[in-house]
Amino acid sequence: MKQGRLLVIEGPDGGGKSTQAKLLNNALAAAGYEPVLAREPGGTRLGEEVRKILLNPEQGEIGPCAENFLFMACRAQLVDEVIAPALAAGRVVICDRFLLSTLVYQGIAGGLQLDEIRASAAMATRGLVPDLTLVLDVPAEIGLDRVGNTPDRMEQKGLEFHARIRQGYLDLAKEDPTAVVIDSTREIEVVAKEILAAVMQVLED
Ligand code: TYD
Repeated sequence: MKQGRLLVIEGPDGGGKSTQAKLLNNALAAAGYEPVLAREPGGTRLGEEVRKILLNPEQGEIGPCAENFLFMACRAQLVDEVIAPALAAGRVVICDRFLLSTLVYQGIAGGLQLDEIRASAAMATRGLVPDLTLVLDVPAEIGLDRVGNTPDRMEQKGLEFHARIRQGYLDLAKEDPTAVVIDSTREIEVVAKEILAAVMQVLED
């Protein structure tokens, strides 16, 4: 029986996560794996509905605590419906964002205690931990620039917020044994190659 693996792609807005997640999905499929691609918030019917609330600029202020539980609700549904069954079937799961996003956005930038977030996550994820976390690093100015003129509710929070996000990722990545930081200011193909190399190391382990 093949062993399932959870690969998570993380990083600040505008770091190219979604593009890289798709490229990785294609590369793994071409290499004979049957990867499952998921994203947070979303990836399930419930998750996509909650995503609309979370990202709607007209939603107004949602406090970090409520945000935490909305993101966790999406995560719990995704784990139950998609990730856990896929891992149990020996599949490789690529997830565009996971718990590290909440630790950085609602914790470091939002002000919630990291331990409180971890406690709620233990319930939502049933203790599931990624095998590899790829942190696509990009300075806040470049990330926000790439996001363009129609920022969503999270992306509207300004440069200072996003600088805290970037630093938060770098700090937490140092303490996370599953994390690899990748300089995502470079060409898409160069970044994709580096991601695939890190992934193959884990898959061939
Ligand atoms: P994302 O899907 O990366 O946005 P986009 O489709 O525009 O690339 O993520 C949506 C936003 O939600 C992003 O700003 C990060 C934020 N977020 C949190 O604040 N906490 C979380 O736990 C997650 C998963 C995302």
